[in-house]
Amino acid sequence: MRILKTVHALERERSQWRGRVGFVPTMGYLHEGHLSLCRQARSESEVLVASIFVNPTQFGPHEDLSRYPRDLGHDLRLLEGLGMDAVFTPEPEEMYPPGFTTYVQPIGPLAEQGEGAVRPGHFRGVCTVVLKLFQLVRPDLAYFGQKDAQQVAVITRMVSDLNLSVQLRILPTIREADGLAMSSRNSYLDPTSRGAATILYQALEAGRRVFDTQLGGDPQTVIRAMADTIASEPLASLDYAEVRDAQSFLPLQSLHAPALLLIAANIGQTRLIDNFALHEDGRWDVGRTREGRAKGV
Ligand code: PAJ
Repeated sequence: MRILKTVHALERERSQWRGRVGFVPTMGYLHEGHLSLCRQARSESEVLVASIFVNPTQFGPHEDLSRYPRDLGHDLRLLEGLGMDAVFTPEPEEMYPPGFTTYVQPIGPLAEQGEGAVRPGHFRGVCTVVLKLFQLVRPDLAYFGQKDAQQVAVITRMVSDLNLSVQLRILPTIREADGLAMSSRNSYLDPTSRGAATILYQALEAGRRVFDTQLGGDPQTVIRAMADTIASEPLASLDYAEVRDAQSFLPLQSLHAPALLLIAANIGQTRLIDNFALHEDGRWDVGRTREGRAKGV
């Protein structure tokens, strides 16, 4: 596996690649969610590329950039074990050299509500780095997790708006046995908080049950079910519980498919997000455990 630290090294390597290039962008501290994206890439591309870059521009000034978990050695061993061909691991100065001026700014409810409201500038940082990575790697296929539903919607829109030729593959959320969505940030949780963190999944389950019995009804009933579940856990405080359209990210006026149930909550000091997606055909995508068992439904 080639470890490429500079744009120059990546460009040189890129010129040697033949066949379909599959790309998995990450911020590292890899877990089974990331690895599921790499495995899928392996099944449909000839050249397998990942990136590990904790992108400073997508963190707010008071967020966890400096303490974001990192373990490059472990990540590289995992990627090597999966048979990846190359990993791009630039330093921030490589991606944002002095004088860097040009950003991709998504606007409107899709980028400014939900996570965008709580984390202003977050999706600007995400779009900027993802476009740069796409320009450098020039993948045929790029892999993202449904875990970050709004990121998926924003990037899908960017690919369409900017006529990018990459095909996006969106894969289900990988969960721990108790339902907690895997996340690099779960490493912030002490054992007590870790126990409490499953409440996000339980809140989504509660919301889904109400949704299925109240089709056509008022989304507030679903939102209340999610909020009440979070309120039942003393260590949790709700950031938002929402029912939104999966493409526009506007709040739904009535309960119908397709829809996204979205939740963000703090468990102690750790902010976690999760979601369930209801597809047009009435099928729920609630993710799966690492062993491949479907959760919920
Ligand atoms: P990161 O949080 O490292 O996630 C990298 C990819 O893994 C994203 O597509 C994310 O949705 C996916 N992922 C994370 N947890 C997952 C889970 N439990 N199941 C399935 N997929 C999961 O998302 C980012 O990095 C960054 O914003 C990035 C796109 C790399 C741009 O900096």
